[in-house]
Amino acid sequence: MSKYDVKSIYELLKDLMGQEITIEGWVKNHRKYPSFGFIDFSDGTYFKTIQVVYNSELPEFEDIQKIHIGSSIKVTGILTESSGGGQEFELSLKEITVLGDCPEDYPIQPKSHSREFLRENANLRPRTNLFQAVFRVRSLASFAIHKYFQERGYVYTNTPIITGNDGEGAGEVFKVTTLDLNKLNGEYLDYSKDFFGKKVGLTVTGQLEAESFAMAFKKVYTFGPTFRAENSNTKTHASEFWMIEPEIAFADLKDNMDLAEKMLKYIINDVLEHAPDEMNFFNQFVDKGLLERLTNVAGSEFGHVTYTDAIEILKKNNDNFDFKVYWGCDLQTEHERYLTEQVYKKPVFVTDYPKDIKAFYMKMNEDNNTVAAMDLLVPGIGEIIGGSQREDDYDKLLKRIDEMKLNKDDYEFYLDLRKFGSARHRGFGLGFERCVMYLTGMSNIRDVVPFPRTVGHCEL
Ligand code: 4AD
Ligand code: MG
Repeated sequence: MSKYDVKSIYELLKDLMGQEITIEGWVKNHRKYPSFGFIDFSDGTYFKTIQVVYNSELPEFEDIQKIHIGSSIKVTGILTESSGGGQEFELSLKEITVLGDCPEDYPIQPKSHSREFLRENANLRPRTNLFQAVFRVRSLASFAIHKYFQERGYVYTNTPIITGNDGEGAGEVFKVTTLDLNKLNGEYLDYSKDFFGKKVGLTVTGQLEAESFAMAFKKVYTFGPTFRAENSNTKTHASEFWMIEPEIAFADLKDNMDLAEKMLKYIINDVLEHAPDEMNFFNQFVDKGLLERLTNVAGSEFGHVTYTDAIEILKKNNDNFDFKVYWGCDLQTEHERYLTEQVYKKPVFVTDYPKDIKAFYMKMNEDNNTVAAMDLLVPGIGEIIGGSQREDDYDKLLKRIDEMKLNKDDYEFYLDLRKFGSARHRGFGLGFERCVMYLTGMSNIRDVVPFPRTVGHCEL
């Protein structure tokens, strides 16, 4: 491995100036002129590239001019101050080796490609400026989230990916089976003969298992993949996505909103601090108001409104909605975005939803009609966080499980937590991809997941 990568060269620039160094990476662009040329060099370690310059005095000049965009190369040269504008320094080439050639029909050219085209080339799109920025921010945001919780004593809990329960009770579970589905002949599957001896699927949430850990460690969080077989073809839904789910005992809904607000502000500040080049790039080329918006959010209080009050606000604008609101309806993205973008103009928590449109585990309010739920809505996206206080009363929870016609046996372990030293507790789920969309201004979830899975699409 080369001693230096592009990031370290930028960091050690003063010391390295005038020295001979060797670097390995790829040709991002190659501009050729009759007696000289420029290679735009990137090794992926830094958003900025290094300009390699060469001229016809080199004996291999003609061969160098044939080097294709996309090839991997090893370059030795002297770091010198740049005479041209645009960069402070350049690498004056002494020796270059092509490690892996790249044919001229290489799909990623130094022009602007459509997002659709790049999605079809998901294996190559991380090499573009846009996706270098997106996936570095994704990585930093992920680290920021771990830092936030670890610094505050939360225990990171890995909840199972294969599970027998439907954590949201919404019937959106992908089945996991080793039964031969080609030999069904119209018969029902006998899950007792299946690998686990029962019907299991991919987890839709780590919450239920996280609750078991919260009732032992008080403060825990999960950060893992979740899967939903929901037929939603929108810009914010993926079939496989990552979720961060903190779960805390001896705390209520208000604490939940405080935590969500502080965590989100921490992530924003951390990413602004650690990815300034990437964030400026998004602000310039993806979403012009991004930096101003994020900086405002980090310094302002989030809004709060109950579902019931939100419905009254939304009703006044019913003429402009495709889906007309009424008390009891589920909020659609158009309503969520109207509230956060037009009414509050900042992130806003909507609380106390009707019990019938929320999951079975949410704590019933005293009115017996609404539950202690909270959704955080943000501009450009709509719902980014969903959470609640949990029903900690055994009988009430059992009643909800029955009412919602869920199989009690699947939730025995969960009910136990209400039997053995129950305590009020709460938590929420932050959709990681929606968080990355919010941070980057990217408008389609398919462009913040390395290899997206959505209805009808599971390429690569
Ligand atoms: O609101 P949801 O369904 O809540 C839960 O799963 C709870 N168990 C969380 C908890 O209380 N521990 O999902 C939480 C968040 C949503 O707000 C959204 O950001 C994201 O997960 N999400 C999705 N992201 C991408 N694609 C999908 N299909 C998503 N479904 C939910
Ligand atoms: Mg939700």
